[in-house]
Amino acid sequence: MTNEPGSTPFQVDLRRHLREREEDRDLTRVIYELATASRYIINSIRTGELGVAGTSNLYGETQLELDVLADRIIRKRMTHTGVIACIASEEDDEIQVVDPNGKYSIAYDPLDGSSLVDVNLAVGTIVGIYKGADVLSPGRELVAALYVLYGPRCTLVYTTGHGTHEFAMNALMEYTLVQEDIKIAETGNIYAPGGTRNKYTPAVEAFVSDLEDRGSKLRYSGGFVPDINQVLIKGHGVFLYPHLKGLPRGKLRLLYELNPMAFLIEQAGGAASNGHKRILDVEPEGIGHCEPVFIGSKADVAKVEELIRTLES
Ligand code: F6P
Ligand code: MN
Repeated sequence: MTNEPGSTPFQVDLRRHLREREEDRDLTRVIYELATASRYIINSIRTGELGVAGTSNLYGETQLELDVLADRIIRKRMTHTGVIACIASEEDDEIQVVDPNGKYSIAYDPLDGSSLVDVNLAVGTIVGIYKGADVLSPGRELVAALYVLYGPRCTLVYTTGHGTHEFAMNALMEYTLVQEDIKIAETGNIYAPGGTRNKYTPAVEAFVSDLEDRGSKLRYSGGFVPDINQVLIKGHGVFLYPHLKGLPRGKLRLLYELNPMAFLIEQAGGAASNGHKRILDVEPEGIGHCEPVFIGSKADVAKVEELIRTLES
């Protein structure tokens, strides 16, 4: 799908990319509607206008928090696809049943890192898509995952289990292909460490010291989506939000944050672990389930698993 030398460059948009992969039409629809929802979300982030665009003034004069607005925009579009069984949103403490016979269910974080909006740092939307009605399944059951990064550019990265692909929003607010089949190298020299270092356990401290000794550069924004996107697009490195002293399950949520990212990173040849096992094999205990995470270049993730095995078990 690259342009021939000397030929007129053409742009592959998201819909065409999905069509050419012969993805299920309803799955294509869900992904496409999520992409459309992101247009309204980026518009609200950029203009600061809340509760207006894309919502048909449904929310009237009330000014919504951006994350609540993002949630409503996505929820409305998803409900209207007619193919959704259940919706689990980080903004909601219950799973909502739309249609028990629906074909797909989604778990999503509508606006991850929303506390970074006021300081104008990048934020994102993260979505996992399951077949059927069971969103409380391990991440290995995901049929698709995507995130949208609202940065200086707005990009969308998706997988349906056939590689991980990056798209960028153009002036017409359409997503066009930037990079197909992104690949992450075995090891890297950037790291993005979440949590506070004085709370690190011995194995995590040893891991981070080793990264520093190897000359790895610390590159951390505090937003999970841009931090993961950096590892994926640079094609190497590791992100961690580990178990901490006093916070043994870490901070990030399995359903809304970790599983979709683990699927995307694995599809790019990387790995995602909670320090003991693959993130995608963790059985969710509830919608708010948190897990430690080490995600990115395979050898780096294997290294921290080994340190945890030898120093902490
Ligand atoms: O929603 C979780 C989140 O905002 C992520 O985007 C980010 O990785 C993490 O929290 C940062 O958390 P904290 O600043 O509390 O360590
Ligand atoms: Mn979040």
